[in-house]
Amino acid sequence: MEELLRGLGIGELILKTEDKKKALDIFADSIKDCKKCRLHTGRKQVVFGTGNPYARVMFVGEAPGMEEDIKGYPFVGKAGRLLTDILKELGKDRERDVYIANVIKCRPPNNRDPMPDEIKACVPYLDFQVKIISPKVILCVGRFSMYYILNRFDQPKISEVRGKMHISRYGIPAFATYHPAAALRNPSLTDLIREDIKRVFEFAEGS
Ligand code: URA
Ligand code: SF4
Repeated sequence: MEELLRGLGIGELILKTEDKKKALDIFADSIKDCKKCRLHTGRKQVVFGTGNPYARVMFVGEAPGMEEDIKGYPFVGKAGRLLTDILKELGKDRERDVYIANVIKCRPPNNRDPMPDEIKACVPYLDFQVKIISPKVILCVGRFSMYYILNRFDQPKISEVRGKMHISRYGIPAFATYHPAAALRNPSLTDLIREDIKRVFEFAEGS
């Protein structure tokens, strides 16, 4: 990580500043031309993250889809709208109450699963985002996020890990839930996602 930051020439600057928003802006700008993996060839733009850098809750999804690639923000397509609606139903606002990012910052062709070498290339960026934001709790949205953030090389199902608190690879408490894209195919998952998100906010708010 330190080496990566030195490579970017921004490590010292960011680690010293208390201004999370500014740190994230500088960091986002420094990776907007990233070509560390093959996904750079098909993307329109790097999708860095959105929301409130001072939020206690951070959501981490998988990778940008078509609309995210066009608009430059995570979770703004069909699945994203479902996630945004669930937040609203819980009285939460995606720009005010949460910071949202993905494991992979560039859209995989035809939204295929990210490959291990692409994840390996991209996760130092997520690691650094988490370091800057230092949320109180992380919600892994979908399998790939859960595998990485919970360090689950055994690749369990979401159904096996949801509903309880885990300690993430960052030492920060984390929960996992289904990807909203799965709920678009199987609407019964929507209630479970809502339950999981509710629990995450209750945890963050200390109740
Ligand atoms: N799915 C994700 O995992 N992330 C996005 O940003 C959009 C869809
Ligand atoms: Fe760089 Fe990540 Fe995009 Fe690959 S997916 S080019 S590592 S920003």
